[in-house]
Amino acid sequence: MVTIREVAKRAGVSVATVSRVLNKKGYVSPKTREKVEQSIHDLKYKPNDVARSLFKGKSKMIALLVPDIMNPFFPELARSVEDICNSYGYTFVLCNTDHSIEKELAYLNALQQKSVDGLIIVSSTLTGEHTKEINVPIISLDRTFDTNLSNVKSNNRQGARLAAEHLKVIDCKVIAHITGPENASNTEERKQGYLDVVKDEEWFSTDYIVSGDYNMQKAKDAIKKLLLEHPEIDGLFVGNDVMGAGALKAIEELEMQVPHDISIIGFDGISLGETTTPTLTTVAQPIYKMGSRAAELLIEQINDPDIPKKTVEFPVELIERQSTRKRR
Ligand code: RIB
Repeated sequence: MVTIREVAKRAGVSVATVSRVLNKKGYVSPKTREKVEQSIHDLKYKPNDVARSLFKGKSKMIALLVPDIMNPFFPELARSVEDICNSYGYTFVLCNTDHSIEKELAYLNALQQKSVDGLIIVSSTLTGEHTKEINVPIISLDRTFDTNLSNVKSNNRQGARLAAEHLKVIDCKVIAHITGPENASNTEERKQGYLDVVKDEEWFSTDYIVSGDYNMQKAKDAIKKLLLEHPEIDGLFVGNDVMGAGALKAIEELEMQVPHDISIIGFDGISLGETTTPTLTTVAQPIYKMGSRAAELLIEQINDPDIPKKTVEFPVELIERQSTRKRR
């Protein structure tokens, strides 16, 4: 494959001059331009994507960073980001960070070296300090970690209220909450929504709030322990659906029945919740819409870096399935 260096050499000019001719930017004398164009023609040179990104600092590539690729919420989210990116002619790259700040920073570094055009980030560990040196547009998705960035999320607090209120309506007497990771913004929002509904109840105690880290196994272990210590619990609002699956397993191992002994509501609305036995009642987020809106916002910002930052908050809905008792 012919390189830009060979074009420059044949024309007797520098690589930067060839770049200026290709990008129609900066002054090049008519005589030099002619020499470069002749060289391009003689060598049948075609600038490839890598070369183009080197000249322009643009790669037509967008990256999405997610904390846990094993949780089906994130592939569902990634799918919508990919669809929009592709429809605008962008290549899409997915990076799994394992909730690790070291992995996040390593990816951010590598992606900048590859002249990525924009980033969509789901994170609970990065801060504004980490992103302020990055000179491409960034959208925070699902979790808010830097209020200077455009953000796309769902109404987590309202969703948690819907869940806790529903558990009250179906006559649960003691409702516990299993939370996500401490530093995730939506962990706090969902906890606040739960507290809005239950904090003034006579039975309420913070002992009924335990962490499951948005992780199935950790949630399962935490729930078994919680239910052994507090057999009075008959309602569980679990901060995401994979922890809901962990809750179903924990309760089965304790030889209790869902929803007869205990009702469970998850959060997310991933398709996994339709396949469990019993199926999982959940607060559904519009996952596809969230991802596509984030991608559209990012592309708008790539095209016009000066457009004002936006926060988009999607409504959520309660989907009743078999893991909650029926209303009387
Ligand atoms: O299931 C993963 C969770 O982490 C979701 O609830 C989502 O909102 C994210 O923050």
